[in-house]
Amino acid sequence: MTKEQAGKRIKELSHELDEHNYKYYVQSNPTISDYEFDKLLEELISLEKQFPEFLSPHSPSQRVGGAITKDFATVVHKYPMMSLGNTYSEEELRDFDQRVRKILSDEKIEYVCELKFDGVAIGLTYKDGELVRAVTRGDGVQGDDVTANVKTIRSIPLKLKKGDFPAEFVIRGEIILPRKEFDRMNAELAAQLTEDGFSDDEINERLYRNPRNTASGTLKQQDSAIVATRNLDCFLYALYGDNFSFKTHFESLDKAREWGFKVSDKVCLCSNLKVVMQYINEWEHKREKLGFEIDGVVIKVNNYRQQQELGFTSKVPRWAIAYKYKAEAAATVLNDIGYQIGRTGAITPVA
Ligand code: IVH
Repeated sequence: MTKEQAGKRIKELSHELDEHNYKYYVQSNPTISDYEFDKLLEELISLEKQFPEFLSPHSPSQRVGGAITKDFATVVHKYPMMSLGNTYSEEELRDFDQRVRKILSDEKIEYVCELKFDGVAIGLTYKDGELVRAVTRGDGVQGDDVTANVKTIRSIPLKLKKGDFPAEFVIRGEIILPRKEFDRMNAELAAQLTEDGFSDDEINERLYRNPRNTASGTLKQQDSAIVATRNLDCFLYALYGDNFSFKTHFESLDKAREWGFKVSDKVCLCSNLKVVMQYINEWEHKREKLGFEIDGVVIKVNNYRQQQELGFTSKVPRWAIAYKYKAEAAATVLNDIGYQIGRTGAITPVA
C-alpha cells in the first residue's frame, strides 16, 4: 500500500468508525456487529502503526486508551462551573418560582426539566469541532485536566458532525457509570478477591460503594487503558460560548444533539409549575427503571435573555434550581437466601 492509499484508507476507516460509535453509544442503535466493528478498528490501528504520520489525536483508535497521566494538570475554567441551589419540597419550589416571577415582573416563563444525573461534572472544550480538553469541576474555578481518560468514553464525540457550532465552545455534562457496569465491576472484583482467599466480610469492605464514587475514581486513574475498560457514559446538558444561533436552553439541547452529543431524551419543556411537579413525581417513581442513578431533577428557566436578567447570587444561578429526591435506600423484606458457589468452592449467600 502506498502512503497516499494508506492516508485515504485511514480517513475512510476513521469516518466509518466514528459513525458506528455514534450509532452504538449515542443512539443505542448499532448497525454492524461488534465483530465487524473490531475488524475495522484493527485495520485502522495497524495502518496507523505503519504510517504514524497519519495518526490524529482525534482518531477513533484513541478510544482504547494507553496514554498515562502522572499528574493531572490544573486548568482554570473559562466559564466557572457553578453548582445549584437545592429544594426538597413543592413549597420550596414555589418560593423559587415566586422569586423568578418577581424579578421578571410577570413575563411569561417556561421551565426546562431535566434529570439530575448522579455522576461527575465535566467541562468539554471543542475547537473547530474537535475535542481539545476535558476538565473536572474541581472547586468550580479550576479542575483537573482528564482529557486522555475522557477520550476513552465512546459516547463523547472526539470530532463533531458538520454543524453551525462556533469555532470554540464549552459543553458541560455529567460522566456516569451505568448500573450494569457498576454491578459487573463488583462481580469481577468479588470473584478476584474470593480467588485471593479473602473472607466474605473482607470482600464486602472492599467492594465499590456506589456508581458515582466509582466513576470519580475511574476518571482519576493514571492509565487511560484501564478507564477504557470501564464503559463510562456521559450526558451533556449545557452549552457555553459566544455566537450561538439559538435563544433558549431547550433549543441548545436540540443543537447539541444535532452536533453529535448524547443529550438525554427525558427533557421536558414545561409551561408552568404544575407540569414541573408532574415531571418530578413521574421520575421519582420511574428512576429505578433508568440504567443509571439520578438524585433529583434540575429546573431551568428556558429563555437565555431571562436567564441573563436573573443572573447569579454569589454561589448559584437564580435561573435554575435542583429538586433533590430522598436517598434511594429503603427498608425491604428479605424473602429468601440462596447460595452461590464460586470457582474456588467459596460459598456466598445471596439475598
Ligand atoms: S445544570 C449553572 N443540569 O448537579 C448550573 N446540572 O448540584 C449548571 N447535574 O454541579 C448545572 N445533572 O454537576 C445541570 N441536568 C443537569 C444536571 C446537573 C446533574 C449536577 C452538576 C451540578 C450539580 C449541582
